[in-house]
Amino acid sequence: MKDVDTIFDTDTIRIVPAQVIRVFLERRCRALVGPHQQPDTAEQAAFSCKPAAFVFQKLEEDGTMGLFTKDIKTMNDLFVHQLQDIYYAEQQLTKALPKMAAKATDPQLKQGFLTHLEETRQHVARLEEVFKMHGVAAKAVDCPAIDGIIEEAEETAGEVADKAVLDAALINAAQAAEHYEIVRYGSLIAWAKQLGRNDCAAVLAKTLEEEKATDQKLTKLAESKVNLRAAS
Ligand SMILES: [Fe+2]
Ligand SMILES: [Fe+2]
Repeated sequence: MKDVDTIFDTDTIRIVPAQVIRVFLERRCRALVGPHQQPDTAEQAAFSCKPAAFVFQKLEEDGTMGLFTKDIKTMNDLFVHQLQDIYYAEQQLTKALPKMAAKATDPQLKQGFLTHLEETRQHVARLEEVFKMHGVAAKAVDCPAIDGIIEEAEETAGEVADKAVLDAALINAAQAAEHYEIVRYGSLIAWAKQLGRNDCAAVLAKTLEEEKATDQKLTKLAESKVNLRAAS
């Protein structure tokens, strides 16, 4: 079996953390093969599972992932591309969060989703500010990774009948999105500083703090009561 890290260690693709690809392919594969035939590992998903291999091939062909294109030549290109990627992700999350709030039964969880929805709208606005500061037009590029996370959240929610268990599943799905955002903002801030754009880094850092705080609140909520109720 081929090794994922080796496969992605090329000049064109090495900008994408192998873990991101791994998570993405695993989620996509799971969605395609159904919940009862889940592959045990991401490697299986990526290389032993025909649907995932198909998705991977398709992404390369139509360039929807953008990350596989050769248009990114400089760190500045990379910075702008990832701004466009997270701009898309934040926009998608403003659509997903109200649905998650509507599904949640725990009042604190419901309110948490609505509070983060407001923050997420602010994240979109901050990104527009960063685009402006950096002198480029605000533009979104498709981000199949966040699409996969949201898609999986919706599928899982549809499969869970018990409301208490559903709350636990919603927290898990929300944390997958938060972790994705944390990774992206972490890199964007580091790259902005490297590019001498401390002004952009400062704006992005405000969002990163809110993503981290949300993630921590979700952990606390899960551990203090939601998981307990789901297990009883
Ligand atoms: Fe966000
Ligand atoms: Fe978030």
